Amino acid sequence: MSGNVLIAGSTSRIGNHLISYFKTKDYKRVFGASRRFDSAVSTENYIQISSEGLIFIPEHIELAIITIGDHIPSPVGTSPDVIQKIINSNLTTVISIVHQLSDSMKNGNIIVFSDALVSRVVREYSAYYAAKAGLETFVRAIAREMAPEIRINCIAPGIMNLKNSAKEDALERWSAKVPLGTLGGMQSVVTAVEFIVESEYMTGSIVKIDGGISC
Ligand SMILES: NC(=O)c1ccc[n+]([C@@H]2O[C@H](COP(=O)([O-])OP(=O)(O)OC[C@H]3O[C@@H](n4cnc5c(N)ncnc54)[C@H](OP(=O)(O)O)[C@@H]3O)[C@@H](O)[C@H]2O)c1
Repeated sequence: MSGNVLIAGSTSRIGNHLISYFKTKDYKRVFGASRRFDSAVSTENYIQISSEGLIFIPEHIELAIITIGDHIPSPVGTSPDVIQKIINSNLTTVISIVHQLSDSMKNGNIIVFSDALVSRVVREYSAYYAAKAGLETFVRAIAREMAPEIRINCIAPGIMNLKNSAKEDALERWSAKVPLGTLGGMQSVVTAVEFIVESEYMTGSIVKIDGGISC
């Protein structure tokens, strides 16, 4: 590979794993971007994310993966500032960063993250799912504008892992809801990323990796 990789959202569980994964691959440099410094990224490869987006964009980005997104509940009666926060992290910030990248990437590949359960929503997360559904529509719309130089696709995971705060029996309970019987794990994310990178005739697609939970 001749270019660099950028992971925006390097402090996320998935982003952090992708940083480690791409460090073993043949890209020139692996940049990590986040609001707060992440020790998985060396200082010279760290890019801060401000409320305006990336504070700078390195040259020769061949692959940009944006994992930003917060899974926050919004039951009926949730305050406007919490709703704004959810829309901001799952939609506005991601859209802004894609626009920033499209200005500076001459060609290459962008991947963003939605959620497979957009089509089979869980109660009390309406703002989150609305934002993710908006993001999927954005991907389809902007793919036309950025082609043929830049491809953009979206990965929609099911349940890849549980938060550290999850209850003791959560793994068993959630696994039982998945037709393929287990949670996804980080390797399924890597496989989906590699599939998109290799699939040169693919843009504007939503790739579900969910063990069938959204069926
Ligand atoms: N893990 C799963 O099972 C799963 C399932 C379905 C969908 N997804 C999607 O996959 C992506 C990665 O998931 P994850 O579980 O790895 O995420 P995560 O661990 O929950 O981390 C969320 C990330 O988003 C960043 N972030 C949130 N709001 C931001 C903002 N306004 N500006 C900049 N950064 C912001 C956080 O940065 P800070 O560290 O600064 O807070 C953090 O890096 C997300 O989009 C998520 O919705 C994940």
